[in-house]
Amino acid sequence: MSKFPKNFLWGGATAANQLEGAYDRDGKGLSVADVMPGGKIRMQVLSSEAFDWSLDLEKYTYPNHRGIDHYDRYKEDIALFAEMGFKCYRFSIAWTRIFPKGDETKPNEAGLKFYDDLIDECLKYDIEPVVTISHYEMPLHLAKEYGGWKNRQLIDFYERFAKVVLERYQAKVKYWMTFNEINSAFHFPALSQGMVKSTGGGEFKNIVQAWHNQFVASSKAVKIGHGLNPNLQIGCMIIYATTYSIDANPINQLATMVQNQEFNFFCTDVQVRGEYPAFTKRMLGERGITWNDLDITDEDLALLKEHTVDYIGFSYYMSSAINETNPDSEEVGGNLLGGVRNPFLEASEWGWQIDPEGLRIALNELYNRYQKPLFIVENGLGAIDQVPAEGIIEDDYRIDYLRCHIEAMGEAVADGVDLMGYTPWGCIDLVSASTGEMSKRYGFVYVDLDDEGNGTLNRSKKKSFEWYKEVIATNGEKL
Ligand code: BG6
Repeated sequence: MSKFPKNFLWGGATAANQLEGAYDRDGKGLSVADVMPGGKIRMQVLSSEAFDWSLDLEKYTYPNHRGIDHYDRYKEDIALFAEMGFKCYRFSIAWTRIFPKGDETKPNEAGLKFYDDLIDECLKYDIEPVVTISHYEMPLHLAKEYGGWKNRQLIDFYERFAKVVLERYQAKVKYWMTFNEINSAFHFPALSQGMVKSTGGGEFKNIVQAWHNQFVASSKAVKIGHGLNPNLQIGCMIIYATTYSIDANPINQLATMVQNQEFNFFCTDVQVRGEYPAFTKRMLGERGITWNDLDITDEDLALLKEHTVDYIGFSYYMSSAINETNPDSEEVGGNLLGGVRNPFLEASEWGWQIDPEGLRIALNELYNRYQKPLFIVENGLGAIDQVPAEGIIEDDYRIDYLRCHIEAMGEAVADGVDLMGYTPWGCIDLVSASTGEMSKRYGFVYVDLDDEGNGTLNRSKKKSFEWYKEVIATNGEKL
């Protein structure tokens, strides 16, 4: 007997700007992702004081412009997902295909048509589409001319965008998420809030104001969606990083509690419970901000309370550890957040600490706090794959990573957690969000393209392809 429910949503996840390519085709406008250079310098450039959202084709390469050409090859890609037996496919809608600059009043029909076709292609194979309305790809014009999400006008622009796509696709798409990894702005507001240092992204007050505007926009989308079709399931989406204290020292335990509250729970508290949590004022106060510094109206608060999300989507790649008492602790890398090295864990080639038990903890922590269905919409191992002269890529390291995490999910389900589904990240190789590299691969399907943009773009199955197919066929029994 499988531990997973009968209708468990096994699938895979991607984001438009990381795979579609065709960045300027059929009326698409530039998004913030389109001006993010490729290569290891990506974060350095984006985090610099000077970066002002300009595109410099002479100096940098932009791998997102071509992505993996999913725009022209989506039929082939979805056929491969269908062959693996996907029950669902999570993808995002590029805002700039629908509203190229973001502040227009009329949508771009060619953009809407692309997603009509993509959705129909999924439905042809009984694959349930799971749509992220905004995944790190807001229109560049809104970032440059309006200053990103700290500007309240963005609520109206997002509302218009959400209304158009919800109306258009509601009969075919049941599962939605309003913003990808909304809490990532804590450390890095460029991707999700369209704010860099030169446009105020370095100030916490702006980040909180931008969050508030996003919360309101998200509630408006929930309201519109439920108004159109009460069966729609509209979720929030966060990065969850299970966070441990390095030891039993109460100082470290306390710092861990605070980190958990602020990073893992602040956004979900608002989006799931419909209220700012009790620790908000202190969180602001410690950064020199008061509630009155923010533009938050009574109508906003009433809207947040009334239109909460139906489920919690989250990404889980790694856990984090805190050592407040030793400032010299070795820092490690991570999914837009850091932490110190945990001596009990191995790390990926990019320094992300691998922790399947942490996923079981995450599921229990989230479920016990909110009692809402959970959906793991990203998980996976970014790794370098070696292409053999003959035969397929033997990505046992990826299989091992996924196996342990699925086992942990099964345990959490046995703990009583209501888990809806699992969509491993980058089910087909795509451009990395943090580094812009192709060589950081997550896929079951290999794409022949390197970091410099060379390659045939041909797709081929890795060993993990057949493995995951069997996992799905046995509803997680055979790992
Ligand atoms: C998540 C994002 O943070 O992690 C994805 O939602 C991203 O867009 C994924 O690609 C993996 O991160 P990276 O940096 O390895 O691509």
